[in-house]
Amino acid sequence: MYASDPAALTDGRAARSESSDRPPEPTDPLLDRVGDTPLLPLRSVARSSSFELWGKAEFLNPTGSVKDRAALGIVRDAYARGRLGTGRTLLDASSGNTAVAYAMLGARLGFPVALVLPRNASPDRVARIRGYGAEIVYSDPLEGTDGAQREARRIATAEPDRYFYPDQYNNPANPNAHYRSTGPEIWRQTSGRVTRFVAGVGTGGTISGAGRYLKEQNPRIEVVGVEPASPIHGLEGLKHLPTALRPSTYDAAIVDRTIRVETEDAQRMVRRLAAEEGLVVGASAGAAVHAALSSGADAPGAVVVTILPDGGSGRPEERG
Ligand SMILES: Cc1ncc(COP(=O)(O)O)c(C=O)c1O
Repeated sequence: MYASDPAALTDGRAARSESSDRPPEPTDPLLDRVGDTPLLPLRSVARSSSFELWGKAEFLNPTGSVKDRAALGIVRDAYARGRLGTGRTLLDASSGNTAVAYAMLGARLGFPVALVLPRNASPDRVARIRGYGAEIVYSDPLEGTDGAQREARRIATAEPDRYFYPDQYNNPANPNAHYRSTGPEIWRQTSGRVTRFVAGVGTGGTISGAGRYLKEQNPRIEVVGVEPASPIHGLEGLKHLPTALRPSTYDAAIVDRTIRVETEDAQRMVRRLAAEEGLVVGASAGAAVHAALSSGADAPGAVVVTILPDGGSGRPEERG
C-alpha cells in the first residue's frame, strides 16, 4: 500500500520483511523534525545582565524534549550496526524524557521497547510511554536513575538475545548526536558569536557533544555545567555527579566549571520564564537559565547560550 512512499521502504517493519540481515537505517519525515530548534532571545530575564542570553527551545522536538536527539542518534547507530530492526527489544534506563523518545521511535519504526524507570517517574510521562505501546519496568525510587541503570543492565545481561541495551549513559552515539546537531546549530544561529555555553548534566551527552563542537570552532568558548546542589533534588533529568554513577558520556575535559542550583531557585526561574518570556519549561530549564544568569559578568557583546531541555506544566508548584 505504501510501496511508493520512500519513508515506508525504510520503516523497521518493512526492513525486517526483507531478506537482508542488516535493515537499512531508518528515515522518516517525522524524524527529520528532530533538532533544528529555534534559539530564543531571553531579553526580559536577562535585562540587567552584561551579556545577551539565548535559550535553545528543545521542547519543540517531536516528543517535547532534547532527548529526541540522543535517542534518534542511538537508534540510527544501532540500525547501522545491525543491533536493532531484527526483532530484539530495545531496553534502557531513563528518568523519563529518553524513555518517551525511545517509545515514540519504537512505535514509529516498528521495534519493541522496554524502559526501566524509577517508580517516582512523572505520571504524565508514564502514561505517554504506555500510550506508545512500550513496556515499563519500575526500579527503586530511592536509587534514582542509578538504580534504573543497574536494573536495566541486569535484565539485559540475563537475556542477551532478547534485549538490545544501548545504555544511554555510556553510548558515544549520545554525545555524538549533539556534536553533529546541537553544537553546529548554536554556532550557526549565533553566527559564531557565542562566548559561553551553559547546559544541564544528566548523561552529559548535551554538554559534552555540543561543547566539544563549540570548542573546536573557538577554544575560548567557556563551557559551564549545571548540576543539582544536593543528591536529593527536584531537577528531573539532572544528576548530582559527585554522588552518582559517573556516565562515560560526560567528558570532564570539555566542562570548564560547574554551577550547582537549588531546586527552589530553578522553580522560581520556571515561573519567571512563563510570566516574562512566555515560555513554559521544565525545572532543568529553570536551573539552566538561573545558572546562566549567575555565571558571572562578561565583556560587553558576550553571548551566553543555554539549553531549555523540555516543556513543563506552567504550574511548577504542582510538579512532583
Ligand atoms: C529534562 C532534562 N534536562 C536535562 C537533561 C540532561 O541532558 P543530558 O542527558 O544530555 O546531559 C535531561 C536528560 O535526561 C532531561 O531529561
